[in-house]
Amino acid sequence: MRLIVLMIVSMLYVMPKAWAEPDIARQRELIHWVRQDCGSCHGLRLTGGLGAPLTPEALRDKPMAGLVATILYGRPGTAMPAWQAFLSEGEAEWIVRQLQQGFPRESR
Ligand code: HEC
Repeated sequence: MRLIVLMIVSMLYVMPKAWAEPDIARQRELIHWVRQDCGSCHGLRLTGGLGAPLTPEALRDKPMAGLVATILYGRPGTAMPAWQAFLSEGEAEWIVRQLQQGFPRESR
């Protein structure tokens, strides 16, 4: 009985972290996807196009929660679509963190 409680407690401790940080394979998918799909509006170098620039300079001082909400729910009244059907909150947060640091190039 004690062992089961211990297992559940350790799972609860580990799982949110697993959600927050996509694994390496998923990170590669996300990088490809942001460069291609988000890049179609935000520019191939993410320096802006139809969509606002997503460079570290542009995003550094903007609050994480607002940017994550923009990605998940879009911005009504603008061209920015909602991505919640494709991304978890942890993944959106990971993308924002990468954008704020300088988004990684695709490795091949
Ligand atoms: C169809 C075009 C389009 C696509 C595709 C698109 N965006 Fe946007 N995005 C926009 C527009 C337009 C804005 C500016 C909205 C505004 O005027 O407030 C924006 C705004 C944003 C912002 C807020 C920027 C800021 O400075 O506040 C973030 C973050 C963002 N997009 C991320 C993404 C990500 C990540 C993806 C891909 C998953 C993506 N966008 C795909 C059009 C697009």
